[in-house]
Amino acid sequence: MKILVVDNYAEMSRAAADIFGEVIKENPTCVLGLATGDTPIGLYDCLIDDYKTGKLDFAGVRTVNLDEYYPISPDNDQSYRYFMNEKLFDSINIDKKNTMVPDGLAKDANKFCREYEEMIDSLGGIDVQVLGVGRNGHVGFNEPEDGLYPYTHLTDLTANTIEANSRFFASEADVPKQALTMGMSSIFKARKIVVMASGKGKAEAVKTMLGGRITTSCPATLLALHNDVVLICDKDAYSLV
Ligand code: F6R
Repeated sequence: MKILVVDNYAEMSRAAADIFGEVIKENPTCVLGLATGDTPIGLYDCLIDDYKTGKLDFAGVRTVNLDEYYPISPDNDQSYRYFMNEKLFDSINIDKKNTMVPDGLAKDANKFCREYEEMIDSLGGIDVQVLGVGRNGHVGFNEPEDGLYPYTHLTDLTANTIEANSRFFASEADVPKQALTMGMSSIFKARKIVVMASGKGKAEAVKTMLGGRITTSCPATLLALHNDVVLICDKDAYSLV
C-alpha cells in the first residue's frame, strides 16, 4: 500500500483528483468506482473544476457506486443517487445512463445484488475505485463483523452507522436500517483503489488499517491484500500512526 500524507482536506482532494484524471485521460471510456459521504466531496469538486477548465471530458466515462440505502427512493434527498447527481453528475458532461448506483427501490434485493455484480463484470471491472473509511473501519456498508459477504449484498446497518448518518436525516428513526453494498471482493475487482481519510475522527481507523493485522472486525484492514492501493490522508487522520 502506498501512503501519501498531505496537510489538509483540500490537498487530499486534489491528489485523488489527479489520479482519477490520469485514468480518464488514458482511457476516455474508463469505469470509475465512486462513493458518497463527506470524504469524496472535495475530489468531486476538483473533477468538476477540471471539466469546466477543459482538462477532463466525461462523455464516455462510466461510473459504478459502492452502495445505497435500502429501501429509499432516488428522489429522496438523502439517497446516494440524489447525492451523486447533486455533487458530481449534474455538473459534468456524463451521460446519466452510464452512471450506476444500486437501486434503493429494487423489488427483489437479492436478485438485484446478483445483477449489480454481473453488471460490474460486464463493464470489464472498475479502473479506479475511491473509498472513504468509517470511524469503525467500515468500507462501503461492510461493517465490522465476524465474517463478511464478499459480493454485492443487502446488509443491516449497525447502530454505530445509523447514529453517524442520522446527522443527515430529520431524526435517527428516519435513517433506513438496511443498505445494498458492494462486498470486499467486488471492491477488489477494481484495478486501482484510492482510499481517502481526513480529520482526527478517522485517526483510529487509519491506525488500525496500518497496524499490520488483517481482520474483518475492521474491514479497511483487508485493503492490505490488494496490490494497487494508495491511501491519501491528511496529517490529522495520520496522527495516531
Ligand atoms: C459511502 C460509503 C461509506 C463512507 C464512510 C465514510 O458511499 O460507502 O463507507 O465512505 O462512511 O463516510 P464520510 O466520508 O462521510 O466520513
